[in-house]
Amino acid sequence: MYKLVATFSKALDLSDLRILNHSERVAYIVLKLANTLGLPEAEKNAAVLAALVHDIGISSTHWRVESRSLRPPQSLITEHCLAGAELLRKVKSLAHLAEIVLHHHDLWDEAAGTPRAALLIHMADRVEVQLRPDRYILGQVASITEHLDQLAPNFWPLALAAFQEISRSESFWLDLATGNYVEELTDFIERADSAAEQPDLAEIAGLYATVIDRKSPFTSRHSRGVAQVARWLAEAAGLGPDQVKDMQIAGLLHDLGKLAVPDVILEFPGRLSTEQMLVVKQHTYHTYHLLSVLTDHPHIKEWAAFHHEKLNGTGYPFRLDASQLDLGARIMAVADVFQALHEDRPYRQGLSLAEITPIMAKMAANNEIDRELTDLLLTSYPVDEN
Ligand SMILES: [Fe+2]
Ligand SMILES: [Fe+2]
Ligand SMILES: [Fe+2]
Repeated sequence: MYKLVATFSKALDLSDLRILNHSERVAYIVLKLANTLGLPEAEKNAAVLAALVHDIGISSTHWRVESRSLRPPQSLITEHCLAGAELLRKVKSLAHLAEIVLHHHDLWDEAAGTPRAALLIHMADRVEVQLRPDRYILGQVASITEHLDQLAPNFWPLALAAFQEISRSESFWLDLATGNYVEELTDFIERADSAAEQPDLAEIAGLYATVIDRKSPFTSRHSRGVAQVARWLAEAAGLGPDQVKDMQIAGLLHDLGKLAVPDVILEFPGRLSTEQMLVVKQHTYHTYHLLSVLTDHPHIKEWAAFHHEKLNGTGYPFRLDASQLDLGARIMAVADVFQALHEDRPYRQGLSLAEITPIMAKMAANNEIDRELTDLLLTSYPVDEN
């Protein structure tokens, strides 16, 4: 579960170089602080996991970049802490992190009883936001520690003392700047995972479907809609219950890689330029690699990531053709086209079945999408015409 959450959350930090690896580096600093303070195992695990998802309440690239500034607007702080806690509360295996995420920007107040994990994330976050990729790291240490000293009353005194101890070693800073911290963080995550219970994958997929769909008003229910259509088609095509469940999960996660696409492009009103289109085309590439983490369910990655491939070989980004696209991948492609046409977009109403039918029939005739699945869907799917 830790590895899964770490991987999916990483996607949110891929959309802009200014936030690249933010969550992961905050998690690493929290791990160092928790080790130095000798936090009990369970509390440390929760602190690191919460750090990985601490900004899950912000899907928009623009606001994620803002939240990584030295003084983010108060409204942004309040909103994303509330939204993050609300999202996590609904997922059984992550609900214990909601309280930590809710308070991850709280200033130190001895009487407040803020969870210690939240106080560590606050401290780590304020360190990370000061790191500048364009300057030599050891030259930044003095100004970072000075800034933290000025803000000292905001931090839990024990966390600040632990940080001062850690920050004495040059290697701590060099690990952060070079990415060498990844090995220690990954080891920790794998050890924590082997002790943790298996999470409900469908529930976690549902959480990230919400995070993906919150990214743009163009797609407010797209992932859930695709999952629903893909599930129906999988059942109608005769797949067994385990495969139907995997298809539903693949549907929820098919656009996971969109988290890595800047919103300016996702929300661009009008026709995309060639260059913007190339950026959009990366999304299924990222979906594929992010879903490699689901080693126990190898189909999910392919069913999810091949939804823009076409049977005649003109799709993207893997340029596959009919011989490489199995039933699951074909189902997802049909479900994605159908749902995209059927749902409302800010610039148009969702199309009716009568309007969708000729468009999809033409795509099937061109050997872009599977003809039998298209027929099955268009003739038998119980469409709700709103
Ligand atoms: Fe935050
Ligand atoms: Fe943050
Ligand atoms: Fe897509």
